[in-house]
Amino acid sequence: MIKKCLFPAAGYGTRFLPATKATPKEMLPILTKPLIQYGVEEAVDAGITTMAIVSGRGKRAIEDHFDISYELEHQIKGGSKETLLTEIRSLIEQCTFSYTRQIEMKGLGHAILTGETLIGNEPFAVVLADDLCQHDEKGVLEQMTEVYEKYQCSVVAIEEIPMDQTHKYGVIAGKLVDNTDDTYRITDMVEKPDPKEAPSNLAIIGRYILTPDIFDILRETKAGKGGEIQITDALLEQAKQGKVIAYKFKGKRFDCGSVDGFVEATNWFYDKMK
Ligand code: G1P
Repeated sequence: MIKKCLFPAAGYGTRFLPATKATPKEMLPILTKPLIQYGVEEAVDAGITTMAIVSGRGKRAIEDHFDISYELEHQIKGGSKETLLTEIRSLIEQCTFSYTRQIEMKGLGHAILTGETLIGNEPFAVVLADDLCQHDEKGVLEQMTEVYEKYQCSVVAIEEIPMDQTHKYGVIAGKLVDNTDDTYRITDMVEKPDPKEAPSNLAIIGRYILTPDIFDILRETKAGKGGEIQITDALLEQAKQGKVIAYKFKGKRFDCGSVDGFVEATNWFYDKMK
């Protein structure tokens, strides 16, 4: 059983400046809901209720969001707007949220290692909130927990991307492990390769299930691409022992870390709501 979900949320969100000057990028809304709330809801749908958030300077709004706002609730009580808080209130009731701070920005691998104190010695999920995933029947994390139950090793979600986009992602090579085309045992992975060096067009998206030995590996992982400690490099160590599964998830993913993807998600959710 996966009980905890880690949200690396310390990054500066420079692509969304000036919006992210004083507002965490995880709090940017698609319609009326902040990105990180979509991620928390996806975790809850997968049966996970312990949220571990790696935050940083200027991120207090995230803590306030997952807390009661007495004045506001008092103000709107009994009125037509009260229902707008139903979803977030239910999350607060079901989940616990704990926080730790990443003091220096040394990459996604370093952010995940910073979360060790909140996770301990058990397998856990990781959600990068700016990858917004949607599936009508079963969320991507729920799909991945089922893959984890079967293989009992680390799992990354992947999707096919155009070859000229490989420089934006961790890219894998793997062997199909069953007759369906959605599960691969990873044999190689490279962080943000040029198309010529990319082992395939299968890109890792911001959903992981990691076994806790990843922390010891991360402690030994040297800075890689961009001078940062990369989770891709640490996962490659597990993959060398055949212990990482790539899962081609069902559903849609919006890259809300880019303005184009953010607008696409906004339009998609707006159309769906109408
Ligand atoms: C991170 C990872 C990368 C992965 C991507 C998914 O990159 O380093 O391997 O493909 O998330 O969104 P970032 O987008 O944080 O630069």
